[in-house]
Amino acid sequence: MTNDKDKTEFWESSFIEKQEMWGFEPSNSAILTKDFFVEKSLKNILIPGIGYGRNAQVFRENGITVTGIEISKTAIEMAEKHYGSEMTIYHGSVTDMPFDQIKYDGIFCYALIHLLDGNERDKLIRDCYSQLSENGYMVFTVISKEAQTYGKGRFLSEDRYEIFDGVNMFFYDRTSIQAEFGQAGLFEITEITENFPFFLIKCKKNNHTT
Ligand SMILES: C[S@@+](CC[C@H](N)C(=O)[O-])C[C@H]1O[C@@H](n2cnc3c(N)ncnc32)[C@H](O)[C@@H]1O
Repeated sequence: MTNDKDKTEFWESSFIEKQEMWGFEPSNSAILTKDFFVEKSLKNILIPGIGYGRNAQVFRENGITVTGIEISKTAIEMAEKHYGSEMTIYHGSVTDMPFDQIKYDGIFCYALIHLLDGNERDKLIRDCYSQLSENGYMVFTVISKEAQTYGKGRFLSEDRYEIFDGVNMFFYDRTSIQAEFGQAGLFEITEITENFPFFLIKCKKNNHTT
């Protein structure tokens, strides 16, 4: 998968074919992050790669306003059907961030960044960081090198493989997380199990980071 048009088509056809493919329950990471954001009294968050909204709902039920970014028009229509049309979801690729000039007090980005190439990952981290308000938090979940799929498929570059059907994945360990998020307020890395072993990465914006 080489460009945004291919990515759009892949996700668009996946949602058309498989519809609500992850069910309606939020992921474990979304539940933990909701608890963390509630504890920090966050009110206004951005979810890049929001899908059809299953992870958004748990934040909204707790009084948090959610804005999304999503590459698949079909997924956005599914989110509107299930959760109403009050939630703003920008249709486009995160590689074209920012979509607005709002500063968010939280960002939750689930299972998206590992689909991007090195330059795109770097830009996403920078764009998210710059859309955070002072003292805001951003939480990313990323696939781990512990996953069974690590090393399978066509080798693209270090730790990055085409795992199936043109889906490219970068597999993280603590060293690459430090390298990519270290300049973006990284303060905690935890392991978490979803359908694959993931890392939950927490960053905080403050004056000491760029
Ligand atoms: C693996 S799924 C993440 C899981 C999903 N948020 C959920 O509810 O579990 C990746 C999501 O990001 C979207 N996506 C993939 N590439 C994207 C991009 N470049 N920009 C915006 N959204 C993207 C996909 O359409 C999909 O909804």
